Amino acid sequence: MKLGASLPLLASLLSISIPAQAKPSNHSIAQWLYTSDIDDEALTLLKRPEIQGVQSLYTWKSLEPQRDQYDFSAIANDLNRTRSQGKHLWVQIQDRSFSTAYNPVPNYLHKPIYNNGSVPQCDGDDCGNNFVPGGWATCQWNPHVRERFQRLLKALAIAFDDKVYGFNLPETSIEVESNTTSGYTCQKYFEGTLDNAAYAASVFNRSYVVQYVNFWPCGWANENNYMSDSFEFFAANGVGVGGPDDIPYKKTMENNAYPYMSKYRNKVPINVVAVQEPDLAATNPKTNKPFTKDEFLDFAEKQLGSQILFWALSAPWLHQ
Ligand SMILES: *[C@@H]1O[C@H](CO)[C@@H](O)[C@H](O)[C@H]1NC(C)=O
Ligand SMILES: *[C@@H]1O[C@H](CO)[C@@H](O)[C@H](O)[C@H]1NC(C)=O
Ligand SMILES: *[C@@H]1O[C@H](CO)[C@@H](O)[C@H](O)[C@H]1NC(C)=O
Ligand SMILES: *[C@@H]1O[C@H](CO)[C@@H](O)[C@H](O)[C@H]1NC(C)=O
Ligand SMILES: *[C@@H]1O[C@H](CO)[C@@H](O)[C@H](O)[C@H]1NC(C)=O
Repeated sequence: MKLGASLPLLASLLSISIPAQAKPSNHSIAQWLYTSDIDDEALTLLKRPEIQGVQSLYTWKSLEPQRDQYDFSAIANDLNRTRSQGKHLWVQIQDRSFSTAYNPVPNYLHKPIYNNGSVPQCDGDDCGNNFVPGGWATCQWNPHVRERFQRLLKALAIAFDDKVYGFNLPETSIEVESNTTSGYTCQKYFEGTLDNAAYAASVFNRSYVVQYVNFWPCGWANENNYMSDSFEFFAANGVGVGGPDDIPYKKTMENNAYPYMSKYRNKVPINVVAVQEPDLAATNPKTNKPFTKDEFLDFAEKQLGSQILFWALSAPWLHQ
């Protein structure tokens, strides 16, 4: 059962007892939380009547601490805690990090056949000329790595299909050195990402599966047809789409994933978007102020065609 259709109804039923400061909005898009970790603050905010669930992140390493030994207790526990409030859980399977101190892949992948499982990822403004490592990216272009990753996806499906509302794979944007022994190329990364997404959609029968798409390496403004080909592929393979950043009318996004999210809104199983911390800090060029809650919701719903918006916990309206 895909639960999407019942969400607005649930929202309207719940809205009956909403306190004055949380007026029902005009929006049919569902509002969820986004957090790296379901802590006490997240659990408190989850009680808000307009919030229907929470998206949280789980690293590959935490889910598979030893080869073939899965530890899904964190997801199971979070599922219990969200369900006990009558809310949903969404899982982002994190295969990258934004800190060099934390490598997201299991240690057993640190072997030549897996190219050590991950490579440094640049987090600067000029990665092409000045590659400063700011985290790690999993070598999903390596078929041996993908084979291990897909095994994890299958185990997650056996454990949580129909229990966790949706699963997503992280954004397509990546900045790694192409001239290393890791075997990375834009094309292999593109193909590997699509392969994982289709595999995920094939093993989950009931939970939603979403690939986050923002930018493709070697794919700016649909270079190499990466953007158009990927959305076509997701539609053909039952993969939902989404993105980490809802920033209304942002030019770089308009040149990349946004028009495709809009165009494919009725061709993919689900379309979701997050408002993460940097999006809250972005300035609306029309008002010179940060975007308002309604501006974020309107853009996500009407322009992108999203059905769920994931708010960072720091969104001011969650604290009013
Ligand atoms: C609903 O939409 C109307 C028209 O766009 C607007 O005037 C009104 O403020 C909105 N109400 C809420 C609760 O957002
Ligand atoms: C979740 O709750 C069920 C029953 O309430 C319990 O049997 C199970 O052990 C709990 N799981 C976790 C991970 O807490
Ligand atoms: C893998 O790690 C070893 C030890 O840290 C290092 O010497 C080697 O260059 C790495 N290989 C790749 C492909 O990154
Ligand atoms: C999905 O459905 C297929 C076919 O009925 C079944 O073999 C498979 O076990 C199901 N997967 C899950 C995770 O339930
Ligand atoms: C990549 O490595 C090859 C072979 O060592 C070299 O010819 C080429 O110039 C390098 N390309 C870049 C972008 O550094």
